[in-house]
Amino acid sequence: MACSLSVDEMTLPPRPVPGVRDIVLVASGKGGVGKSTVAVNLAAALAAAGRRVGIVDLDLSGPSVARLTGTVAAPETGADGLAIPCRRHGLHVISIADMVPPEQAIAWKGPLVAQAVEQLFRDVAWPDLELLIVDLPPGTGDVLLTVTEQIPVTGAIVVTTPESMATIDADRAISLFHEHDIPVFGLVTNMAEFVCPCCGARQPLFESGAQANVAGRRHVADLGSIPADPGAAGCVASGMPMALAAPDGPVGQAFAELAQAVARAVIREREGERRRAAEEHSIRALLEDD
Ligand SMILES: Nc1ncnc2c1ncn2[C@@H]1O[C@H](COP(=O)(O)OP(=O)(O)OP(=O)(O)O)[C@@H](O)[C@H]1O
Ligand SMILES: [Mg+2]
Repeated sequence: MACSLSVDEMTLPPRPVPGVRDIVLVASGKGGVGKSTVAVNLAAALAAAGRRVGIVDLDLSGPSVARLTGTVAAPETGADGLAIPCRRHGLHVISIADMVPPEQAIAWKGPLVAQAVEQLFRDVAWPDLELLIVDLPPGTGDVLLTVTEQIPVTGAIVVTTPESMATIDADRAISLFHEHDIPVFGLVTNMAEFVCPCCGARQPLFESGAQANVAGRRHVADLGSIPADPGAAGCVASGMPMALAAPDGPVGQAFAELAQAVARAVIREREGERRRAAEEHSIRALLEDD
């Protein structure tokens, strides 16, 4: 099939997403390590800290964000034909799960995936957002590749558990981001330990250290760890992010710290971009003078 993009379109950086300043991916490599949980709770903690935040669910075949945020209705469509994100917990939410009936399979590949990704970002009337958090499917497949090529991403965080089964795949996800020049803000270790609700003692749940080895070897920051939350099932059932259910508990605190770390990483990335642009500008001016 002939490629429909012109040479210019293939070499140009991805177009901005209207209304959105910074886009942060939440990826993992391994499935089931808590990407969606981290994405939703990170977004909720950022919103609770006063940021204007949206979240988009790109796990087309296993969407969880609607469930985790308790959004139930399909987004309305504005006069301009764009979807209006649902409002929950101070977040602006777009999930494919709100648009396709639960009993209907979503089994797309190739161009359909690329089209769905474009629509979930660009056919949406995002309000003025500081941050759009993106929940990705597991692995490094079609959806992630489409995003890296078509969406202007500010940075990514990679979620893992402390065991090597998960960190090996986290390592692969980091490689993919490096190959596509997407800054990796750092590694988040989920379900690293259990904090006793009675005495506060911390009990590690897995062999420890594998995530620190990956972070060190790949020179990515350690963004901290999220304890296992015994109240997680209740939060899922009620659509209440655990970061908001008990903001002063160990899990709520961990998400508040993660939100601060991600906000700082976004600022650092923007400052770095400005510095690089200024340097390029000076070099060009020097060359023109010669
Ligand atoms: N910190 C936590 N404490 C307790 N349970 C958790 C925690 N993080 C995630 N879980 C639970 O682990 C399961 C998997 O989490 P989640 O769906 O967020 O993972 P995922 O990486 O998005 O999975 P998938 O790869 O299928 O998209 C869910 O049942 C979730 O409630
Ligand atoms: Mg998920």
